[in-house]
This record gives sequence, structure tokens and C-alpha cells, in this order.
Amino acid sequence: MDFKEIIANAISKVTNIETEEIKQYIEVPKEKANGDYSFPCFRLAKELKQSPVNIANNIKENIEIDENIISKIDVVNGFLNFYVSKSKIAEATIAKFNVQKEEYGKSNMGEGKTVLVEYSSPNIAKPFHIGHLKTTIIGHSLYNIYKFLGFKTIGLNHLGDYGTQFAKLIEGYKRWGDEYDFSTNPIDKLAELYVRINQLCSEDESVLEECRETFKKLEDGDEYCTKLWNRFKDLSLQEFDKIYNLLGIEFDSMNGEAFYSDKMQEIIDILEKNGKLTESQGAKVVNLEEQGIETPCIIQKANGSSIYATRDLAAIMYRARTYDFDKCLYVVGEEQTLHFKQVFAVAKYLGLDEKYTNGLEHVSYGMIRLPEGKMSSRKGNFVKVEDLLNEAITKSKEIIEDRDIEDKDLLAKQVGIGAVIFEDLAESRTKNQVFDLKEALNFNGETGPYIQYMTVRTKSVLEKARYIPDGNNINASKITDEASTNLLKYLSDFESTIISSMEKNEPSIISRYLIDLAKAYSSFYNENKILCEDKELQDARLYITYMTKVTLTNGLGLLGIEVPEKM
Ligand code: ARG
Repeated sequence: MDFKEIIANAISKVTNIETEEIKQYIEVPKEKANGDYSFPCFRLAKELKQSPVNIANNIKENIEIDENIISKIDVVNGFLNFYVSKSKIAEATIAKFNVQKEEYGKSNMGEGKTVLVEYSSPNIAKPFHIGHLKTTIIGHSLYNIYKFLGFKTIGLNHLGDYGTQFAKLIEGYKRWGDEYDFSTNPIDKLAELYVRINQLCSEDESVLEECRETFKKLEDGDEYCTKLWNRFKDLSLQEFDKIYNLLGIEFDSMNGEAFYSDKMQEIIDILEKNGKLTESQGAKVVNLEEQGIETPCIIQKANGSSIYATRDLAAIMYRARTYDFDKCLYVVGEEQTLHFKQVFAVAKYLGLDEKYTNGLEHVSYGMIRLPEGKMSSRKGNFVKVEDLLNEAITKSKEIIEDRDIEDKDLLAKQVGIGAVIFEDLAESRTKNQVFDLKEALNFNGETGPYIQYMTVRTKSVLEKARYIPDGNNINASKITDEASTNLLKYLSDFESTIISSMEKNEPSIISRYLIDLAKAYSSFYNENKILCEDKELQDARLYITYMTKVTLTNGLGLLGIEVPEKM
């Protein structure tokens, strides 16, 4: 039973407006005093040429709706507020849950559609910074969400493994490689090499020239250069893997920028053939004014070398052919907004089916910094992400130190990592964020550990009862108190919450929901004695506890957060 649907149907009959349109406007009021569902009549004022109040009164007078389901309708300032009968809420939600049980919330709405989620994409031989952590966490969650909704989902890591900086590193390595022990903190050492060779380049033009030649050699597949490049890549990946392992993330493809280096000529040829390439100071560019973008997109530099954007275009072509995608999401910081605008605009000139060019989307996110001040790898005051994750684990361990738990290391890891993930997903991704580890680890705040804790509580209630009641034999009429009804309403919204987070590519919709759900369970738990004399009532309350456990667990899973055994 979908209450929105029932209400929308009834309104549609009175107004002769499509149910689907009405359904879109129906809201869940923030204040309980405004009923369970609310319909803002001003939405129809234009269409019906009447004032919202008139519309509301008219609907109320003429609506035909089952009184066993909708117990009351109020008109307040042009809003129609609907009150759902409490036992019906329980009955409907339990019935909905019973269809799926442990898979509650899952769907096959994405069947037959392919979604690529490109995320993380750090740069080889450069530090993995806290901005990369953010794309990694958001991207992984989106990956989980699409998968859960039945899309064929593919996670791509577009490694930054290409460019003149690798030639510089090779030149640096040739000169001073012997001085370093790359078996520990290799990225730091490569970064140091990079600084040194840059210094030398700025002092000595001939070294810069050598670097350029080396880059050419690298591009042409020179054996020595390729071997070193592979070594830098391996050393970096070892470091990145430590982070991915801590976060529990694997990618379906690790094809980085270099993978596309032999696929760029085709792009240049197509653009040339389509008359889209123009010369500008020796470089080849595509003008995008007709698409409302003032800055032309550079495709080839004056010296003939390719650039970042060209590799992105080659990647689009490759992905269209390889995956036949319906959507290709780029989880990348907002500072690359112009880049993606340009690339997506040029992609329209490649002769690709519109399905592909319409499916490209930059899922951007705001700036992130630690409380101490802005972190920048250039200024050198950055924090290593691996250290940050390990610190979260150590701090968690301190918090749980005196608890009676078998595997404290495992728990500390689950809590610490869960806290970091949740903190990154707690607010709308476009917001700028100050990443506060201390806040993230507050067990009583709106945090990952708080939700984990509530989930563990549902588990221990069930363990204490030693049984999960039969969902088909729950007496819903027993459940009519405020706290239970409130909890059931949240439980009933799970699937639509996941869908809207998918539609907006916004995992924070789920994290927000989980906080509300966990709080609703907390009130339910405080106000109701779950194990009680009345067996029917006990069964009903236990079953709601079980539903909450499943929903919290599945929800946390979508964010990439594990549920501890005990806490
Ligand atoms: N490697 C880039 C960086 O760290 C991000 C790559 C984003 N993805 C892309 N297809 N351009 O800034």
C-alpha cells in the first residue's frame, strides 16, 4: 500500500489532473501537527485558475477516499493535510517489508541500464589528498546505490598516470634515484625527486629540454622510460591500495590516462574532419561559443603534445564502445567544472549517439579542508590520507578500550573508517566542508558511529529475545503509539529515499535519512517496552526492531560502512 499513491489517485479524480503529477507534489510535512502527507494546492492554482484555498476546500468536499486508511483531512492555508490511520501505516509497512526482508530497499528499476561511475582517480607519484578521499567515498557510495537499484554498474579509476611530470621524474631518477630507499613512503620520495628536478629545470634550460625529449621517448614506448614509468606507477599503487583496502574498495577498471594515449589521434582526426578544429597560436582548439562556453577547449598544444581534455575525449569514445553506457558519472571536485563543461561540449562533435553525450555528468563536490587550515600539496602542509584513516582507527580504539569486546582491533577499524566515511557523506556534496575527525567520532552526535551503535542495539534486542517473529503474523493494530508510527513511516520511506539519492547523485540523502531513522528507533526503544507480557505486542515490536536492523544495515552498506557485531 502506497499512501502517496492512494492520496494522489483520489485528488486526481476530483481535479482531473494526472495522478503522476499530483504525486510529485505530495510532501511529508516536517511538523507532525500537519499530518502524515500534505498537498500544497498552490501547485495547481495556475492550471485550475483558482486560489489555493478554494482548490483545497473543493478537494476536501468532493474527495472520495477510504476512511479506514485516511482518518482525517484538514485544510490549512491552501494546504491539504492528510492523516493516515496509524494501524494502516503499520500494516502497510510490514507488508512492504515482508516482500523483500533482508533485501529491503533493493529494486530492479535499473535493469538493462549501464552506469559508469568514475571516481577517486588520484595522480601517480603525487600524494593522495583529502579531496581524493572525498571523491573515493562519494563515488563508492554512488556505485553501491546504482548497483542496489539494479543498474549494471562499473567503477572506474581514471588514474593520473600521464604527462610531462613523468618525464621529469625519469630524469630526476636517473640523476639521484640511488639516494633513495623506495621501500617506505615511496610517494614522498618521488615527490621530493620531482621538486629537485623542477628546481634544476628552472636553473638549466637544457635539462628542461632533456625532459621534453624523454617525454617524447616515453610516448613512443622507449623501453627504459616505460620500465621506470611502470615502477613509479607500481610504487604509487601500493600506497593507494593501502587506502582502498582500509576503505574496502575495489575498482572494475584501473585504466588511467596513459591507457588513452594511443586513442587520441582518432579524436583529433574526427574533429578535423568535422571542421571543428581551429588554430590558435599554434595550438589546435575547438571553439565552443555556439554552446555558450567562451573558453575554447585546447585539443593539441603548439608543440604537438596532447592534453588532459583530449585524453578525456578518447576515454568517452572508448567507454561508449566498450560499455555502451547510459550514464557516465565523473565524481570530481568543483574546480574542474569548466574542464568538464568543455569536454562534454566537444564530445558532441565526435559523431557519437546522443545517448552517450546526454549521459555524461560531472558529479562535483565542494572544497574540503581540515580545521587547522587549507591543505595543499603545493604548500606542503597536507595531511596524508593514510595517516588520517589510521588516526581515526587509533582514536576509536581509545574510545572502546574498556568495552567487553573480543576483537577490539576489528571494531576500532569498523568504527574509525565508518566515522570518516559518514563525515564525508553527511552533508550535500556541493557544500564546502571542514573535516573534523573529533566530531566524526562523537558517538552521540549525528555520526557514523551513532548509527552503527543503534544498529548494534537492534541486534542485541533480537538476541535477547532469541527469536524473530513471523512477519506474516504481526497484529498491526497493536502498533498505534506516536513513536512506533513515526519509526514505521521512516521505514516505509527507505526505497524512495534511495531512489531520490540516485536521481540527484547525492548519498547525503541516505546519510540524513539514516540519522533520522536511528533517532526514531531510539525514541521507539525508550518509549516502548519491547519484551513484555502481551505476546502479540512483543512480536510486533520485535518485528519492527528487525525491520529497523535490516534497513539500517542496508543503508549503511550503501554508504560503504560496515556494521560491527558488538559495540
Ligand atoms: N587525476 C585528476 C586529479 O587528481 C582527476 C581526474 C578526473 N577525471 C577525469 N576523467 N578527468 O585532479
